[in-house]
Amino acid sequence: SHIDHGKSTLADRFLEVTGTIPKEKMREQFLDAMDLEREKGITIKMKPVRMQYRGCILNLIDTPGHVDFNYEVSRSLAAVEGAILLVDASKGIQAQTISNLDLARKQNLVIIPAINKIDLPQSKVEETKLDLANLLGINPDEVFLISAKIGTGVSNLLEAAIKKIPPPKDNSDKPFRALIFDSEYDTYKGVVAFIRVIDGMIKLNEKVYLVQAKAEGDVKEIGYRNPKSSPVSELKTGEIGYLATGIKEPGKVRVGDTITLKSLSQAETMSLAGYKEPKPMVFLSIYPEDSDEFDLLKDGLEKLKLNDAALTFNPESKEGLGRGFQCGFLGLLHAEIISERLKREFGLDLILSIPSVVYKIIAPDNKEFFVYSPSEWPDNTRIKESQELWANLQVLTPVAYLGQALELLESIESRQLKTNYLGIEKIELVYEVPLREIISKNFYDKLKSLSKGFASMNYDVTDWRKGNFVKLDILILGRKEEALSKIVSENDALKEGKKIVEKLRDSLPSQLFSVPLQAAIGGKIVARETLKALRRDVIAPLYGGDYSRKRKLLEKQKKGKKKLKDRGKMHIPPQVFLEMFKG
Ligand code: GTP
Repeated sequence: SHIDHGKSTLADRFLEVTGTIPKEKMREQFLDAMDLEREKGITIKMKPVRMQYRGCILNLIDTPGHVDFNYEVSRSLAAVEGAILLVDASKGIQAQTISNLDLARKQNLVIIPAINKIDLPQSKVEETKLDLANLLGINPDEVFLISAKIGTGVSNLLEAAIKKIPPPKDNSDKPFRALIFDSEYDTYKGVVAFIRVIDGMIKLNEKVYLVQAKAEGDVKEIGYRNPKSSPVSELKTGEIGYLATGIKEPGKVRVGDTITLKSLSQAETMSLAGYKEPKPMVFLSIYPEDSDEFDLLKDGLEKLKLNDAALTFNPESKEGLGRGFQCGFLGLLHAEIISERLKREFGLDLILSIPSVVYKIIAPDNKEFFVYSPSEWPDNTRIKESQELWANLQVLTPVAYLGQALELLESIESRQLKTNYLGIEKIELVYEVPLREIISKNFYDKLKSLSKGFASMNYDVTDWRKGNFVKLDILILGRKEEALSKIVSENDALKEGKKIVEKLRDSLPSQLFSVPLQAAIGGKIVARETLKALRRDVIAPLYGGDYSRKRKLLEKQKKGKKKLKDRGKMHIPPQVFLEMFKG
């Protein structure tokens, strides 16, 4: 489903109806165990859970709904036989509904359509039902109507899942093969792989082999989650469970890899169809505010990476910031979640650079290289051509917000590809846009706010195209602040430069002296603002006519200002970086 349409809540009801978790122990969104998930109310990592109901074993995977976590959805879909397509009756079909449906169809899954939140007074049940039937090409009566919150229709839906979704094929006589669809790290047991057994079976203490990674491991523990870990002595064909591999290098256990028995010859161990490797699209630098905390940051990133294949990071260092990492993310939400987790779980204060997309440079000798951060942007003489990624951006909006949505799309570099009516009052707009426009201009948040949350979007990266870019440098007190540099389209450069210095002027705290804020391209100043000095009233506490004392205080202040200014560097509070980072 789309974000917030009620998957986790429905999963809660399933856990309850099947008696997997007794009602008195139930907390809301039981499967969203991460603090941040509860706070933001979104699922970041899916959790496989096993339930028993009417003599059947049901394996449920709760998937994340946000566009940044699409790769998680595609992984879970490859491990199951069927999917419930859930749509919020108050919001109707959204961009993610369509993209997830496409993913499920590609896996040939049985799809069970259900409309949630029918208890809400503002829900448009009939309309959504028609739209959904139309989208799937089915009879509207086949759509299930539920309220995951109250529980209406939930047992019905579960019965239908049992009836319509076929049991897994019995391949028990074949040699063991399983698909890895997720992993987590355990200090004692090594990498724990979440697997779907496709063929044969696996037993405790057997030796396993990872086909693509060419790595060996031992079965330290196998079991399933319900939702706590329940060890078993074997996992058979069709089952979903976990397998502790004893492997201590997380990089070796790759999602999408096939796990098999070491004893099987390689001729027998054909690799299962893998998943699409998640590719980071958004890059930004992360520095510890206190440079002594570099190792802690490294440790934090390494730990988070264990459960997040899409996160990448490489050490780098910058003048004034010390050592940090250049990190790659799937999107802005992904970046925000990782930096939030670094702060909370590792107690780090961080400085983040403005996010950037990746650029491809073709040098005069025709060699190609990639630029992931503004600091790597080469000198003009080393650029024959620069390229960037383009994407097909799909926006779904109710007719009522069409005007504003079009205005937003026209405000960025974009070309219209098609417009489609979906059902009665939803319109699908498809545009070609540079990925840079989606990422660095915060398109998603703007679209959400102009449509009061009713419009939605999705994008697919398509190809590399030629562009004209320049590096915009920001100078504070005449010093270049590397972390604020930005690569921009040549056409946007002046406007962007002006916007950044104005924003800095409004968000930096006043100092005892005035601070010039400048934007420059190749050393040429293109925009300038001044942060006015704050005149602290040092003599206010003195009343009466103690003139010499007053003079002394004023002199002292003047000297202090000079000393500060001479240091030539101003402390930029991390909130300002964050502010700038939000664009
Ligand atoms: P993501 O994990 O972020 O994709 O969201 P989700 O699809 O798991 O949605 P979640 O279960 O977190 O529900 C989102 C919000 O909708 C929560 O505030 C739920 O309480 C609410 N909600 C879910 N189902 C219903 C329902 O049937 N009726 C009403 N009124 N609210 C519901």
